Amino acid sequence: MPEGWARAMKAAPGLHDSARGVMDGGMSTARRILILGGTGRLGGVLAREWQGRHEVMAPGRRLLDASQPAALARELRALEFDTLVNTAGLTSPDTCEERPDDAAALNAAAPAVLAAECARRRARLIHLSTDYVFDGGGGALLDEDAPARPVNVYGRTKLAGEKAVLAACPEALVARVSWLFGPRGGDVPATVLERARSGQPLDFIEDKWSAPTGIADLTAWLERFVTDLRPQSGVLHLCHTGVATWRDYAQVTLDLAHAAGLIERPCHTIGRRLREFSHFKAARPPFTVMSNARLSDVLGAPIPAWQEALERHLAGIARHRGDEWDAGGGRNAVTPISDPPCSKR
Ligand SMILES: NC(=O)c1ccc[n+]([C@@H]2O[C@H](COP(=O)([O-])OP(=O)(O)OC[C@H]3O[C@@H](n4cnc5c(N)ncnc54)[C@H](OP(=O)(O)O)[C@@H]3O)[C@@H](O)[C@H]2O)c1
Repeated sequence: MPEGWARAMKAAPGLHDSARGVMDGGMSTARRILILGGTGRLGGVLAREWQGRHEVMAPGRRLLDASQPAALARELRALEFDTLVNTAGLTSPDTCEERPDDAAALNAAAPAVLAAECARRRARLIHLSTDYVFDGGGGALLDEDAPARPVNVYGRTKLAGEKAVLAACPEALVARVSWLFGPRGGDVPATVLERARSGQPLDFIEDKWSAPTGIADLTAWLERFVTDLRPQSGVLHLCHTGVATWRDYAQVTLDLAHAAGLIERPCHTIGRRLREFSHFKAARPPFTVMSNARLSDVLGAPIPAWQEALERHLAGIARHRGDEWDAGGGRNAVTPISDPPCSKR
């Protein structure tokens, strides 16, 4: 382990927790997990939830910079892990459009390095990807074999990352997810509630469709794939059941927030067309709703509807009303709302 890394790990003991482990048929399923992107919306929750059951390392980019492939390969070799979950990446489509070289380095070159190291040491790799690998031109649910034809730099670099991962490490799992929401905020529900609170217009796109997905359930699904004795490999779609436009997603958030007592009056959204958003730098694929049929088969259970997962999420915020909701210190923690001045538009 590099000296600088060892020093930093000592300075931040919470990043490297001792594992109690879970017993499955008499065998411990505790894993030694390296999470890349552990300061992000998803990675931050995985790190917090899995600590205690597993030995978790979740270094930020200061400790493990994924933008320098050669250095990343060297640093990885010095670390002890049997499972790697890669949630790191350049995830804003507009930023990817502005910085295509950085997008290619983080979303494609870095995953290739991770996969090569996992194959070398026979470690389990779960690599996160996106519904933006699709062109969004159809109207039917997209299964794992549907042709991927990305329409922007983000989608193209993520697809290149998927291919590089599976070429270097065919045992890896490529987990495509969509429209995440969770305790660290920075998502549609947090934006909607913030807009309602501050009286900003509640207008949302109504001709773009996907499947909102709660990070709480996603964390449990991913843990199954981390601990299962028979690992999954290849591409798998992980999303909640159902279809939504951004406007549906926003309106249901407002309705559920009202029912949970997070906002005092009902609020109503206004529909906008995707083409009206001329400030978007990256093209957005209109219809990227993924089928979760294979996920349901693998888990042996039906996958809840996104509305149900969202209701649980908002109930959690309501329960923590007045507290700091994200005890993990997420950079975009959701603020409970007491008296929202709904938009008059
Ligand atoms: N959020 C969604 O709705 C959504 C939808 C579809 C797919 N996904 C996929 O799900 C995964 C997780 O998404 P997310 O929303 O959790 O992403 P996020 O919040 O943007 O987090 C990205 C993470 O990558 C890290 N990172 C950026 N540059 C790095 C570098 N040079 N070296 C090391 N780490 C670096 C960030 O660190 P810093 O904190 O230091 O910037 C952060 O921890 C991604 O693969 C994304 O493509 C997400």
